[in-house]
Amino acid sequence: MADASSHPVPLHVAIIMDGNGRWAAARGLPRAAGHREGARAVRRVIEAAVTHGVRYLTLFAFSSENWQRPAEEVQDLTFLLKHYLRSELTELHAEGVQLRVIGERERFGPVLGRELAEAEAQTAGNCRLTLVLALSYGGRAEIVAAARRVMASGLKPEELTEQRFAGFLFTAGIPDPDLVIRTSGEQRVSNFLLWQLAYAEILFTKVLWPDFSPGDFALALDEYAGRERRFGARPV
Ligand code: FPP
Repeated sequence: MADASSHPVPLHVAIIMDGNGRWAAARGLPRAAGHREGARAVRRVIEAAVTHGVRYLTLFAFSSENWQRPAEEVQDLTFLLKHYLRSELTELHAEGVQLRVIGERERFGPVLGRELAEAEAQTAGNCRLTLVLALSYGGRAEIVAAARRVMASGLKPEELTEQRFAGFLFTAGIPDPDLVIRTSGEQRVSNFLLWQLAYAEILFTKVLWPDFSPGDFALALDEYAGRERRFGARPV
């Protein structure tokens, strides 16, 4: 088991939570039931991240492409997000969790948009864990939006550095992920944190997201601890 005292713990873990639909289909349940069970897994994994001393946890909860799903499923996911926020915020705040949202949140409408902004403001002073929810998020759209902000900022071309550019992304101020986990056996990045994943370790697991347990999280941290990170350099 990963143990914060003897292994390097990733500062930032990002997760592509995949497999809710297949989890539900395997049980003859509607997809919404898979998403509900997925929300329970979210709760467990946040607790596990706190326990292991992970400082940033980014969850891909809704991609830019998810808007193309049937209206009923989009509605179910939006309802679940609202419900999650309303029911969990008090406890997240009490646990010292800071909430950050990345993505085109305005697409969810003014009510959820306002609630997300209030949740961010309420938890802004917390520092035990920063929970980053990627909502209506797409990596390419993020990079284009950042490029637009750079152009509007009046910065001269020669003044733009990688570090400065990163400050225009939704994730400004958040360190790049050290470890990315994708559940359900799919082996793709799916437009997730394209800039930020440059040197992340990637771990694919066959476990479907609703089944992803604190034990699976610990195993992922163990695997990470055993990897050699070279950031493009050669060992001497
Ligand atoms: C992918 O499974 C998962 C999603 C599109 C949504 C993720 C949402 C949750 C885990 C629940 C809500 C989140 C929060 C933060 C409360 P899929 O539907 O693509 O599964 P499939 O590939 O098996 O069909």
